[in-house]
Amino acid sequence: MSLDLGAILAKHGNDPTRLLQILRDVHAADGLARPETITAIARALQLPRARVEGVAGFYSFLGTEPRGRFRVLFSDNIVDRLQGSVELRQRLLDAFQVGLGEVSRDGLVSIDVTSCTGLCDQGPAMLVNGRAIPRLTPARIGAISALIRGRSPVEEWPENMFRIDEHVLRRDLLLGTPFAPGEALSAAIDRGAARTIDELKRAGLRGRGGAGFSTATKWQACRDAPGPQRFVVCNADEGEPGTFKDRQLLAEHADLVFEGMTVAAHAVGAQRGFLYLRAEYPFLLPHLEAALEARRRAGLLGGEIRGVRGFAFDIEIHVGAGAYVCGEESALIESLEGKRGIPRNRPPYPVTHGYLQKPTVVNNVETLAAAALIARHGADWWRQRGTTQSSGTKLLSVSGDVARPGVYEYPLGVTVQQVLDDSGAGDVGAVQVGGPSGVLLSRHELGRRIAFEDVPSAGAFMVFDASRDVLEIVDDFAHFFAHESCGFCTPCRVGTTLMAQMTARLVAGKGTRRDVKDLSRVAGAMKSASHCGLGATAGNPVLDALEKFRPSFDRRVASREVLPTFDLDEALAPAREVTAREDAGAHFPEES
Ligand SMILES: Cc1cc2nc3c(=O)[nH]c(=O)nc-3n(C[C@H](O)[C@H](O)[C@H](O)COP(=O)(O)O)c2cc1C
Ligand code: SF4
Repeated sequence: MSLDLGAILAKHGNDPTRLLQILRDVHAADGLARPETITAIARALQLPRARVEGVAGFYSFLGTEPRGRFRVLFSDNIVDRLQGSVELRQRLLDAFQVGLGEVSRDGLVSIDVTSCTGLCDQGPAMLVNGRAIPRLTPARIGAISALIRGRSPVEEWPENMFRIDEHVLRRDLLLGTPFAPGEALSAAIDRGAARTIDELKRAGLRGRGGAGFSTATKWQACRDAPGPQRFVVCNADEGEPGTFKDRQLLAEHADLVFEGMTVAAHAVGAQRGFLYLRAEYPFLLPHLEAALEARRRAGLLGGEIRGVRGFAFDIEIHVGAGAYVCGEESALIESLEGKRGIPRNRPPYPVTHGYLQKPTVVNNVETLAAAALIARHGADWWRQRGTTQSSGTKLLSVSGDVARPGVYEYPLGVTVQQVLDDSGAGDVGAVQVGGPSGVLLSRHELGRRIAFEDVPSAGAFMVFDASRDVLEIVDDFAHFFAHESCGFCTPCRVGTTLMAQMTARLVAGKGTRRDVKDLSRVAGAMKSASHCGLGATAGNPVLDALEKFRPSFDRRVASREVLPTFDLDEALAPAREVTAREDAGAHFPEES
């Protein structure tokens, strides 16, 4: 495809808030953002050139350097690794005599890794020119090599290669209740906006994206915020490694999710909605666009929805470009505005100062689907399941050392052991609940419950059998956070890199006792001093593992004598300078 920048800019109405989408289209056509293209975009959108270049450089799926005509990105989370992705990657690298992160001399192929692609139930997986290929095997790698060598366009590769299966292995209220488009909206309209929010409050619905904030409180705050314009955003970034339940919801229940957004719009008085879809899920796009179109035709989107005067609402899909931090709601809003995904200072919160500084509700895919069904069936129906503090059900993405990976819907309060039994886990050594930013459980904690009051989960449930080395798992997570830190604040930028260096040293048998001590100091400092949730939670796996799996660390310590060549306190001096702090709390505590 050749680049017709004029057509791309026109398609996006020369709108600076569409900058990320413009750059995505430029990449699809030209493979990179060339200096002259960046200049032309800046001129057309009347933006500083540095702003356009900054956005092109921020997202890992964009870039200003040439890449191979075939750009291969291996999904690189711990579950892919357990499934043999490193060996498969090496096969492909050998086949093209190219190093990781390099472009082959003839420019034909570049091979690199990317964070989790959301296909842990059918990994190992890769992306080729943005298209996901699951269930990789040596035979598949051979076939892919041949197709690349034959310069066969990816669009002409066998469709079967790209088939994504949905494995739903347990259904409850959310996935098992029949739903006809429009019925939740009609119920919400009949009940009225204020009483719809009351119903959600009675239902006790809490956000499914991680923080567990009350959905009714969020909607009410947005409704009460001053000003005529409001927005509803569906967070479908699903970047937490090991999570794929939103993929399943969007694949099978798109109408329910869009209905939830429309119910939210009615409740808060929003006119415009966005679904922010992670870049790794482009295979969902045609289906989602078709669902939106069908809803417009049915009068469920557009003007005078369901005949209600003044109720106009429509939804557009905005595709990300490979940045985990963009799942954080304020970074997501920045990205929606066509900027780098740097989290904002909070407060103010999106409910009052969100998209374009206007009141905005941001909810997870699953939260919106649940809200639609609560609007339809009522609070008591939802409260049939769950516990007092954690009502309803939760979708879990179960992967790792289990016989039956897939999506399981459980009443909140289910024990970890129950999930393990149902998914066919064997001799369990550890379970990571909620992804790397969540909680690492040992085999002694399998009686604990998935619930806000015990072990909360945004959806990931990764199982590791007793043969797995927890230190290697923690090392994988540490590298994930170092890669995904946006670099805005020093505790996270420096801390995640230090953590990754220390875990790598320990895995290689070159770590010291000092490294083990420093790991917990760095993790603790990041928790208290980071600007956003990414840095605040990046140390969780290290802290949990040090507490529960200490022998994994001690076994690998090479020498008790070796002293570090790096002074942690000194490394954070720039952060103290920027924040004008020199008090004791801004220093690492002296070792005893
Ligand atoms: C680094 C980071 C990544 C996040 N990623 C997601 C995500 O992929 N999907 C999501 O719904 N929430 C994610 N969140 C949480 C959002 O900031 C926000 O709390 C959520 O979208 C609100 O929706 P809810 O109230 O329905 O849970 C993330 C938070 C952080 C700090
Ligand atoms: S904590 Fe990390 S991801 Fe968050 S703003 Fe700071 S550097 Fe960026």
